[in-house]
Amino acid sequence: MSHASAAEVSGPTPFGNTYDGLPVERYTLTGGKITVRLMNRGATITEVLAPDRAQNLADVVLGFDNIAGYESEANQYFGCTTGRVCNRIANARFTLDGRQYQLADNSAPNHLHGGGKRSLDKVVWQGEKLVTPRGTAVRFTYLSPEGEEGYPGNLKLATTYILGDDGALWIEWEATTDKPTPVNLTNHSYFNLAGAGSGTVLDHEVTLYADRYTPVDANLIPTGKIEAVTGTVLDFTTAKRIGERIEQLTNTPTKGYDHNFVVMQGKQLPAAVAKVREPKSGRVLTVFSTQPGLQFYTGNFLTGQAGKGGKPYVYRGGFCLETQHFPDSVNQPTFPTIILKPGETYRQTCVYMFSAE
Ligand code: GLA
Repeated sequence: MSHASAAEVSGPTPFGNTYDGLPVERYTLTGGKITVRLMNRGATITEVLAPDRAQNLADVVLGFDNIAGYESEANQYFGCTTGRVCNRIANARFTLDGRQYQLADNSAPNHLHGGGKRSLDKVVWQGEKLVTPRGTAVRFTYLSPEGEEGYPGNLKLATTYILGDDGALWIEWEATTDKPTPVNLTNHSYFNLAGAGSGTVLDHEVTLYADRYTPVDANLIPTGKIEAVTGTVLDFTTAKRIGERIEQLTNTPTKGYDHNFVVMQGKQLPAAVAKVREPKSGRVLTVFSTQPGLQFYTGNFLTGQAGKGGKPYVYRGGFCLETQHFPDSVNQPTFPTIILKPGETYRQTCVYMFSAE
């Protein structure tokens, strides 16, 4: 996996206006055989064209053809940058330095993916093309003001996408703050390696480089324990079809896979955390990360909503591999901290690498 790139970037091109009248723009990164489209609303991945083993291209991420789709109820965080704190915060509150912060309970009773109307997936970021020492990139920046969605501190954010010639899309996050504040960023792309809207992902074969997970209660909040996956339906330490054991989870609170895995991080970061192969096309996605957690979610809340080209995104028609810190870290003293302090720089990386075999 090389970081250097001769990828090309074009844009910005208009992608309509938000409901509030803000212009939304898209950028296109082309490198090797891969094309990636990004938009400044939510610093979002809207398209990934990746070849199968016969070099046929398919768009392998879920999304919409227009901004109205992204602003509709049908959008379940497709492709976005998720935060300020992704995943769940129990009872939508936390205490920091003796003060209690009340957040939106947008997944009642919990706070989910940064909150209500102005979570990071919904605001319009500032886009720019840039040539980094590592290659051609698109960077989105956003200043989240003190109090936005109830969080303390002015948080200065950057999400940078760099495409290598080897099919690797690097996502680099940076943040600084002027007050201690929780930060937990991820990308929420839904993949279907047979092509977005081509049915369920149950035949995809998944390997997770994770031997433990954080069990949750009926509200999907971690109990605080860390348990081994051995002997459970969560054991993906060797490749398994998603569909092989998923039915055993259908009538549980997660309704399918929707679990935070504790990844086995080597010394070399970003480390490989997951590999997914779609047998018919031969497309493979390998995910690398600098973070200790990985939420594996199998689209159990998808309802058949119409996506790009009018294709339906059926129940379990996409999967997410959200590299992140553990859910509810802000209320769980035994989990690695997500508090960013003034003077520090938050830096995390996720790599989605596309290949075919
Ligand atoms: C995450 C959560 C899921 C769900 C989706 C969005 O993956 O873990 O429970 O909320 O986002 O629908």
